[in-house]
Amino acid sequence: MNVNNIIALGRTAEIISYDNQHILKLFKEDMPMNLIISEFNNTREVYNIGIQCPKPFEIIDYVGRKGIVYKRITGITMLRSIIEDPTNVIAEAKSLADIHLDIHQRLVENLPNQKELLAEQIKHAPLITNQEKDKVLKKLSELSDDCKLCHGDFHPDNIIYSEARHWVIDWMTGMKGTPAGDVARTYLILKLGRISDEIPKEVYEFISQIRNQILENYIKEYLKKSNISMNEVNNWFVPIAAARLGERIPDEEKKELIEVIRNNL
Ligand SMILES: Nc1ncnc2c1ncn2[C@@H]1O[C@H](COP(=O)(O)OP(=O)(O)O)[C@@H](O)[C@H]1O
Ligand SMILES: [Mg+2]
Repeated sequence: MNVNNIIALGRTAEIISYDNQHILKLFKEDMPMNLIISEFNNTREVYNIGIQCPKPFEIIDYVGRKGIVYKRITGITMLRSIIEDPTNVIAEAKSLADIHLDIHQRLVENLPNQKELLAEQIKHAPLITNQEKDKVLKKLSELSDDCKLCHGDFHPDNIIYSEARHWVIDWMTGMKGTPAGDVARTYLILKLGRISDEIPKEVYEFISQIRNQILENYIKEYLKKSNISMNEVNNWFVPIAAARLGERIPDEEKKELIEVIRNNL
């Protein structure tokens, strides 16, 4: 293993080659240990119920940082696949919806509760007033409870294609809850999310152009194949946007999330 042998850069971690069969997701120094443990436990749980995700092996210390050893998946992410062949964008967006629908069919027990997690994040959210937080929390309390598997950060960079199969990665925010909330989160990420600060500018601009196409086709397909209405998804936008304010995202995106919150409170 060599810390310079980086396979991919994530927002929370560097992915380095561990050996031929494994990678190490080496978290940034300031990543809280409880979140790393959550990712490990959540991934183990979803792996055990048969979701196709890389098997997590152990949490280790390396160069003074914490990392999770995972099975290595050789392939490319859905995002990369769209960038390499944008003519496939509609088919890819439909696959994104299908994979999400499949996740939402599973009932789960041993994962954090969506509304409890969101409430905690909203209470600690920066940039909005306490009065606004109270209103957001009230809206959240009126939303439905459910026990479906939700990913919590479902987007085309968290899916890896390998030998005609897909693998869903990055389960740090996995939870049990209401699928409409998980769809609202994907919707806001596709609409407002800066996919990575570290990609070249021209790639970034190109992604922004096709982002809308992914969003439109994803949501159309998801709603068509589920019994969820756009109205139900809309109801989750405010709490989901407020909860996201505390994440490592660019200031521009935070401004847009605040607009979503203030326009809908
Ligand atoms: N098990 C794996 N095998 C191969 N590549 C991986 C694996 N896990 C992650 N990656 C690569 O690393 C990138 C970032 O991983 P991810 O877990 O999503 O980190 P982050 O939490 O920082 O988003 C992925 O988009 C993918 O390209
Ligand atoms: Mg990721």
